[in-house]
Amino acid sequence: MAPIDPHSFTDSTHPLTTHVSLTLYFHFPSSTIHATALLTLQTPLTGPLSLDTRSLSIHKILDPATLTPLPFTLSSSEHPIKGRHLTVSLNNNSSVLILYSTSPSSSALQWLSPPQTFKKIHPFVYTQCQSVHARSVFPCQDTPAARVCYSAKLNVPRQLSGVMSARHCGRHDPVGTDLDGVLTNEESGFGFDLKSLWCEEGRVVEEFVMEQPIPPYLFAFAIGELGFRELGPRTRVYSEALDGVLDAAAREFAGTEEMIRQAEKLFGDYDWERFDLLVLPPSFPYGGMENPRMVFLTPTVIKGDASGAQVVAHELAHSWTGNLITNKNNEHFWLNEGFTTYAERRIVEVVQGEDIAALNSGIGWKGLNEEMERFKDNMEFTKLKNNQEGVDPDDMYSQVPYEKGFQFLWRIERQIGRPAFDEFLKKYIATFKFKSIDTQTFLDFLKANIPGIEKDIDLQLWTEGTGIPPDAHEPVSKLYIKIVSLANDFKLGRMPREDEVADWKGQEWELYLENLPKAVEASQVLALDARYRLSESKDYEVKVGFFQLAISSRCRDYYGEVEKTLKEVGRMKYLRPLYSGLVQGPGKEEEKILAKRVFAEARECYHPIAQGVVEAIFAKHM
Ligand code: BES
Ligand code: ZN
Repeated sequence: MAPIDPHSFTDSTHPLTTHVSLTLYFHFPSSTIHATALLTLQTPLTGPLSLDTRSLSIHKILDPATLTPLPFTLSSSEHPIKGRHLTVSLNNNSSVLILYSTSPSSSALQWLSPPQTFKKIHPFVYTQCQSVHARSVFPCQDTPAARVCYSAKLNVPRQLSGVMSARHCGRHDPVGTDLDGVLTNEESGFGFDLKSLWCEEGRVVEEFVMEQPIPPYLFAFAIGELGFRELGPRTRVYSEALDGVLDAAAREFAGTEEMIRQAEKLFGDYDWERFDLLVLPPSFPYGGMENPRMVFLTPTVIKGDASGAQVVAHELAHSWTGNLITNKNNEHFWLNEGFTTYAERRIVEVVQGEDIAALNSGIGWKGLNEEMERFKDNMEFTKLKNNQEGVDPDDMYSQVPYEKGFQFLWRIERQIGRPAFDEFLKKYIATFKFKSIDTQTFLDFLKANIPGIEKDIDLQLWTEGTGIPPDAHEPVSKLYIKIVSLANDFKLGRMPREDEVADWKGQEWELYLENLPKAVEASQVLALDARYRLSESKDYEVKVGFFQLAISSRCRDYYGEVEKTLKEVGRMKYLRPLYSGLVQGPGKEEEKILAKRVFAEARECYHPIAQGVVEAIFAKHM
């Protein structure tokens, strides 16, 4: 056994999967998918094949050519991070057909009952596979080193429709041949007749193909009563079919085509044909997820002031950095997120101006410095390339790969100048597209293309060292300096005047709040809010930033509002600081009781990944 990824059972001596063909029957009443997965390998294999699974019942595995069963074992205990190891015995086979069912606790899937949706009529289900959750939807070599093409048939109730991070190639009535390869009732192991369920009245099949090889974490679908608005020649925005949501989303993201064009100038052609957006219910655990062809977004980015464009710029940038060139495993995650943060800011600079881009860099700089404090007892996580053996990527999510990665690339840009760096970036993308690479591969390419760079920049310190290297750069701009100095004045008891904040939007307030002391007098919190109503901001970044200050200042007046916020959104960027703020530190008995009660009441509305993250925070502090 030679592992290639600390988060996967994939064995480097086995051929990798090149294609996956899925049939998925969605049974909403039991929050279960009954499914078949046909995996095709690079080359035939004799001997055991290792696959990743989590929360899957494996009924039967067949040789698809002969439909004879292949022996398999599933590890008896579930590894807390990797899940269950599935081993199939092959005898010169280059493909396997797996009959299986997901379970309601499959970690990638959030099943929403009708009352949990906007329209309250139909159910909804969607995936979030990054980093290690694709294995809870289908058995696979769940490592980004194993890029696969796929096709999928989704059998859903007729009133619903499905979208995927793939090309939609039709909606048709179900036919028996959709399930070629499934044995009869008794032999299939499902315990019921999947073929007749599949063809029942009231069902429809949505078909998709993904012809470009993707890492499994980019596999994605959503099913519900969906509608859309056209935004541009290659962009639609989808969400639950509600005019209010769709219209607001269409306004917020109207500039998307312009953004794609600018990004193409910077990084080369957009390779994925379509760039659609899907606005999910408020429980979506991230701000955005770069699923190819169809980015998934939290509704909290719709603020009515075009600032949601930053998140779209980030997910769009992933189309080059992350989706075209992917980290080989999570230990090199900075290659995905650091490059993307750099690329995002380049796009923002063109479409929103230098000031906004610099402001974003400033917010990031502050965030990076805070992570150094958070990880002061575990400096491994302040390294760009780090050891993740035994580490759950969901629990260790941090700004380090984003912001230290950004700083590293910006350092190189300062060294060689922007024109040379732009040329380097384009060549890097063209060279490694559709590949999964590691930090060393990047460094070798850098040194080969920018001879002598290692004499000017300590590449090893940047990629393997802890902390923030001395040649990192605080992204000062006029606006940045002004906001930081106003925040410093607050420590001396001076609040900003109305005329000083007259044109501040969310990001200005975010930077201001980030630069205030961690805790102040409760009376100061109340005074700040009395003047600027931050607790009522429509912008969750501002509102949550303010609540963090209120919690750490023990200003209990806001606990009711904190509770309300924790119950209306499931984005982890907000759940993490609010729950941590409540339970962290000495003498927090009242806050801990509050946090526990709120979580008990809100838990069902969170995505399973977010549930796990909050539980990990509680485990650490209670
Ligand atoms: N790929 C990430 C989200 C992610 C990271 C999911 C790790 C699972 C594991 C996405 O591109 C991202 O970074 N989203 C940010 C957007 C922000 C940086 C503009 C988010 O969700 O906050
Ligand atoms: Zn990202």
